[in-house]
Amino acid sequence: MSRILLTGGAGYIGSHTGVELIQAGHEIVVFDNFCNSHPESLDRMEQITGTTIRRVRGDIRNQTQIETAIRAHDCQAVIHFACLKAVGESGERPLEYYDNNVAGTLSLLRAMRATGVRTLLFSSSATVYGVPQDLPLKETHPLSATNPYARSKLIIEDMLRDIYRAGPEWRIGILRYFNPAGAHASGLIGEDPPGIPNNLMPFMAQVAVGRRNTLRVWGNDYPTPDGTGIRDYLHVVDLAIGHLSALRHLDTPQCLTLNLGTGTGHSVLETLHAFEKISGTTIPHEFAPRRTGDVASCYADPSQALAVLGWKAERTLDHMCEDAWRWQEKNRNGYRS
Ligand code: UD1
Repeated sequence: MSRILLTGGAGYIGSHTGVELIQAGHEIVVFDNFCNSHPESLDRMEQITGTTIRRVRGDIRNQTQIETAIRAHDCQAVIHFACLKAVGESGERPLEYYDNNVAGTLSLLRAMRATGVRTLLFSSSATVYGVPQDLPLKETHPLSATNPYARSKLIIEDMLRDIYRAGPEWRIGILRYFNPAGAHASGLIGEDPPGIPNNLMPFMAQVAVGRRNTLRVWGNDYPTPDGTGIRDYLHVVDLAIGHLSALRHLDTPQCLTLNLGTGTGHSVLETLHAFEKISGTTIPHEFAPRRTGDVASCYADPSQALAVLGWKAERTLDHMCEDAWRWQEKNRNGYRS
């Protein structure tokens, strides 16, 4: 058992990981400024786990706040989820992205150095592979960034590699997520993006429940079997369990980089039909031009995570749709319902 600080722990991936950590016998401290999440998610996590969750309202750019939280709660490790993640917005407001994501991580790392905490899991993204040259994507694929959001993730990855080189006592896990989807099976926690969702699954769920009229399918002229984009959707609970496996593996100093994905790609239309079948709804949709920055196909080679951690995604696209639908139906307007 250890006590772990979760930056952004009230968010979509943070809340699901928090639940799995607690159920595996860890204690968590959620550090969040709720800029993109809702404190209600913490109440729901308490409901699922039957525990009280320590919570700190704070900003990762404030080193003192992080240090105080780590010391007050005697944390031994950090999982760093907190970041801004809207690709389009990052192009319009790059400073905010570099400030929150890059400067925020710097301040977190300084706080860790000051408090002697050397174990860190970082939420990276498949976005660091840029335009895929070879599929499936291996960890050795060249890295590049096509927007400030992606660049912020890449800069942080580089910072972490440098920190490990300079201080080989660090235990760092860089986890490159593919496309997290679905929700906790209880229907109590799930994805609740503020405003109009950028991502496919929450948008689709909101159309299915009648909150939005039509799904726009961005492009049907890609070189894929049905012309729509292919992604590696990964159940958020599988992803959460991946963090547990990675944390267990960080019992010795290292800088580990792993893909977390299923290895299987699904097109937008396949995903839409799966969601319609599971929800028993019809999802009105129309084809629209390609979205800037999108690629035709992106899916993982997850074999390293299996070899190193013994981790493998277990849940299928149908499970993701079923759980996303349960969450959306029970919480029509998300945590504000
Ligand atoms: C996006 C980001 C990625 C980020 C990830 C997690 C871009 C270009 N990429 O990944 O950097 O790490 O989210 O936040 O934004 N689609 C539609 N209609 C919609 C929404 C999506 O057709 O309303 C399609 C997209 O064109 C794509 C697929 O669905 O083919 C998945 O899109 P999305 O869920 O936004 O994920 P990514 O683009 O893979």
